[in-house]
Amino acid sequence: MKISSICCIGAGYVGGPTMAVIADRCPCIRVVVVDINAERIAAWNSDSLPVYEPGLEEVVRRARGRNLFFSTEIDSSIAEANCVFISVNTPTKTYGKGAGKASDLRYLEACTRRIAQFARGHTLVVEKSTLPVKSAETVQAILSVVSEGKTFDVLSNPEFLAEGSAIQDLFNPDRVLIGGQCSEACAALAAVYANWVPLDRILTTNLWSSEMAKLTANAFLAQRVSSINAISAFCEATGADVEEVAQAIGKDSRIGPKFLKASAGFGGSCFKKDILNLVYLCEHHGLPEVATYWEQVVILNEWQKHRVARTVVEKLFNTVAGKRIAILGFAFKKDTNDTRETPAITVCLDLLEEGAQLAVYDPKVSKASVLSALAHAGPTSTQQIFSVPSALEACAGADAVVVLTDWDEFRTLEWMTIASSMRQPAWVFDTRNCLDAQFIRKLGINLWGVGKPSNTKK
Ligand code: UDX
Ligand code: ADP
Repeated sequence: MKISSICCIGAGYVGGPTMAVIADRCPCIRVVVVDINAERIAAWNSDSLPVYEPGLEEVVRRARGRNLFFSTEIDSSIAEANCVFISVNTPTKTYGKGAGKASDLRYLEACTRRIAQFARGHTLVVEKSTLPVKSAETVQAILSVVSEGKTFDVLSNPEFLAEGSAIQDLFNPDRVLIGGQCSEACAALAAVYANWVPLDRILTTNLWSSEMAKLTANAFLAQRVSSINAISAFCEATGADVEEVAQAIGKDSRIGPKFLKASAGFGGSCFKKDILNLVYLCEHHGLPEVATYWEQVVILNEWQKHRVARTVVEKLFNTVAGKRIAILGFAFKKDTNDTRETPAITVCLDLLEEGAQLAVYDPKVSKASVLSALAHAGPTSTQQIFSVPSALEACAGADAVVVLTDWDEFRTLEWMTIASSMRQPAWVFDTRNCLDAQFIRKLGINLWGVGKPSNTKK
């Protein structure tokens, strides 16, 4: 069993970058990424890629047209491949049983049926999307009813890349996880990764452990963010400094220093969706205490987002009606244009509800994306939202600046110019603790940092 031709179904934030790196590192393997979204495929074939990731453009440029192709020809691409990756979206269900918690598996089912219909000979089917534990059973059940000499091995190969560092994570992963029942099939997929990943970082497990490990990893990571955010509120109440606390506990090798940055809450397409899915599955399996335990991670996260908006209103004399507030950063983290579940949505919606005028600036998120993310989440008045081409313009005339994403460029803003252009008394709310607080305060601006002792003195 040797993988010579890959088809990846789903050209999103996971499928696109992952396949670009596989093609780059394995010139002998033909990689075709397909999607039902023709606009997305056209963008992958253009100079303006649909996904922003540092280093992605270079990788795509090297491999595209050589052994990396983006196409809407789904059926023929499945037929030509001896390995098909499933990398479609698995959003939270919005209807029927499990609405609001369970994963919506209709895209998974649709593309599995297509694989069943068009695959030829023996095909490895690899789950790349994060899926509920036991999803492989569904995939196997659909594939098991086809005849005509077709055979399949189903593997789970979850992706652990984080957006913003996807290319680095793919080139140098902590581990590659392959779950499967057939050791030969696992070895065939491992051989692909072995082209650039050291063998001791390629782990093989049974199918269910692999599916479970992905959900568990995301749950643990999200839990750390909620834990430090919970402590951030406590720090503010007591005069402790969350950064000092994080540094002190991070030195304990059992805890470690990563993922201890307080913020306005975690965002992104995975954490909330995966935890809610975990909660749903635990309830389903008669484990209500386990479900409640994990659900609290999401509840705390929602609370933190509202807490930030509430703090802004409180500091601005309990009213933001008609006031201009600069929102710096809308993406859910730096170095990505992704706005899925970004805390900026909740913070902006709360401020809009209080009547604020928002001047939004994000270096990679367009006005259309901001408006669509907000409209998707709730009713908004577009007349209250301005998208401006620079941070300086966003801050001009503002009563407050709210930093929501830790883009590097926000660290070096011209605060002297900003200070003189803001309405006094001016406020800066730093939800990432990424600004030079001392310097900004010296310019006569009040500054609130998440989890930091209050010091609003001019
Ligand atoms: C996550 C997982 O890290 C990745 O392994 C998985 O494959 C997909 O989900 P991603 O959502 O891209 O990746 O980004 P991540 O870096 O995990 O950040 C998630 C959110 O948590 C962001 O909103 C980020 O700002 C926030 N965060 C992260 C914090 O607020 N504090 C931290 O210390 C770390
Ligand atoms: P992720 O962040 O997991 O990559 P995205 O939403 O960015 O998720 O990407 C998933 C992609 O899968 C979308 O571009 C969507 O159009 C595509 N997709 C969903 N269902 C199918 C299907 N049945 N066939 C082909 N592509 C699909």
